[in-house]
Amino acid sequence: MGDLHVKEHGTVSYKELFSEISQAADILVLTGDLTDLGKVKEAELLAADLRSCSIPIVGVLGNHDYECGCVDEVRTIIKDAGVHLLEGQAVEIKGVGFAGVKGFAGGFGRHMLGSFGEPAIKAMVAESVEETMRLENALRQVRSERAMVVLHYAPIPETVEGEPKEIYPFLGSSRLAETIDRFPVKAVVHGHAHRGRYEGRTPGGAPVYNVASHIEKPTGKPYALLEL
Ligand SMILES: [Fe+2]
Ligand SMILES: [Fe+2]
Repeated sequence: MGDLHVKEHGTVSYKELFSEISQAADILVLTGDLTDLGKVKEAELLAADLRSCSIPIVGVLGNHDYECGCVDEVRTIIKDAGVHLLEGQAVEIKGVGFAGVKGFAGGFGRHMLGSFGEPAIKAMVAESVEETMRLENALRQVRSERAMVVLHYAPIPETVEGEPKEIYPFLGSSRLAETIDRFPVKAVVHGHAHRGRYEGRTPGGAPVYNVASHIEKPTGKPYALLEL
């Protein structure tokens, strides 16, 4: 599940949902935008709710977790809450290898933003390429035959369908899919595109799931259930 967007003065508690998930699944995977504005207080509220989760938790950060400039504190709070926070690393839990990275924007297919022109554009493309290299390093660390890639940004355009076409380039990057397709990956999960679509595939055939909490899923719940 992704895009929890925990708010400082929010009324939504994830306590019950986390205990329900603990009964339904073996591992909880969080695909970023865990907080709404990246505030310390929001991360603390999430950490308190995560106490009712009794299964291992794997996660990545989202763009919203960076908003306030407190990402170091947010990161520490989330890690202290027991989340295996992946930023270019891998972790193996119960025989499944998770490779995680936030990812970045940049667009899809032949319409991807290229490294040309102003330094600001080149910096944006460089960030996108760097996130992809972090993902590659993470995937190289995976030893298990059952590998799941955890992202915030989308690696394919199919799972952002439903969003305005004009913002597709800000929702993900095909560079992520190009890297994924060089490894034997059983499933890819991401969030970020709240109005996107649940299911798609990379050009190489890896199943991709947009698990943002807003997305309609086969479970009929805010979370998806995936078996690897
Ligand atoms: Fe979000
Ligand atoms: Fe996001």
